Amino acid sequence: MPENLLIFWVIVILCFLQQIAGQAPERKLKTYKGCGGRLDELSGVIQTPNYPESKLEMNKTYPTNSNCTWYRDGGDDATLYTIKFWVMRLESARNPNTNQTICYDYMNITVDSFGTLQFCGFSAPKVTINGVGPSLKLQFISDDSNNYQGMMLMYAVRPDYRPCEREPCKNGGTCEMK
Ligand SMILES: *[C@@H]1O[C@H](CO)[C@@H](O)[C@H](O)[C@H]1NC(C)=O
Ligand SMILES: *[C@@H]1O[C@H](CO)[C@@H](O)[C@H](O)[C@H]1NC(C)=O
Ligand SMILES: *[C@@H]1O[C@H](CO)[C@@H](O)[C@H](O)[C@H]1NC(C)=O
Ligand SMILES: *[C@@H]1O[C@H](CO)[C@@H](O)[C@H](O)[C@H]1NC(C)=O
Repeated sequence: MPENLLIFWVIVILCFLQQIAGQAPERKLKTYKGCGGRLDELSGVIQTPNYPESKLEMNKTYPTNSNCTWYRDGGDDATLYTIKFWVMRLESARNPNTNQTICYDYMNITVDSFGTLQFCGFSAPKVTINGVGPSLKLQFISDDSNNYQGMMLMYAVRPDYRPCEREPCKNGGTCEMK
C-alpha cells in the first residue's frame, strides 16, 4: 500500500473511533414512555404506552382509547424539528374500493410548515420528517379495539435554523422554509 494511502486510512479509522467514543453515556437520549407530556430535551425518543422493554415483552400492546399528546412550544418561527420513525405497528386497514389506507390507530404530527401529517400501519415510514415553526405536537390516538405493539420514534429540535440567511443567493436569490 502506498504510504499516503495508508496515512489516509489511519486518519479515517481514527476519526471513526473518535465518533464512537463521542457517544458517551451522558449523551444517551431520554426516552419518553408515558402517555404524552412536554418534550423538555432538544432530542429524545418517544414510545407509545406499554411499548416492550425487551424481547420477552414483544407481545405487549398499547391501550385502547389512547389519546396522548407530546409537545414542545415556545420556539420561534425558525425552529427546525426532525422526526424519524424506528418502529411502527399501529392498526390500519385498506379500503378495497379506493385502495386508501384507513388509520384506526395513528400518530398525528403537527408543525406549522406542513400542518398535520397522519401515520399508521405496520412498517416505519422511510422518510425523515422535517418541519419548521414555533411548536411541535405529536398525538397518539387508538380506538376501542385491536391493539398492536405501537411505535417508537426519535425527534430532534434545532433552534435558530435560518438556512435562507446563511445562503441568500441559493436558488436564484429566493429561499423559502418548508
Ligand atoms: C407472543 O405471542 C405468540 C402468539 O400468540 C406466542 O407464540 C409467543 O410465544 C409470544 N411471545 C412471548 C415472548 O410471549
Ligand atoms: C384528546 O384529548 C384532548 C384533550 O384532552 C381532547 O380535546 C380531544 O378531543 C381528544 N381527542 C380524541 C380523538 O379523543
Ligand atoms: C389496488 O391496488 C392493487 C395492487 O396494487 C391493484 O391491483 C388494484 O387494481 C387497486 N385497486 C384500485 C381500486 O385502485
Ligand atoms: C389526525 O390527522 C388527520 C389528517 O390530518 C385528521 O383527519 C384527524 O382529525 C387528526 N386527528 C386528530 C385527533 O386531530
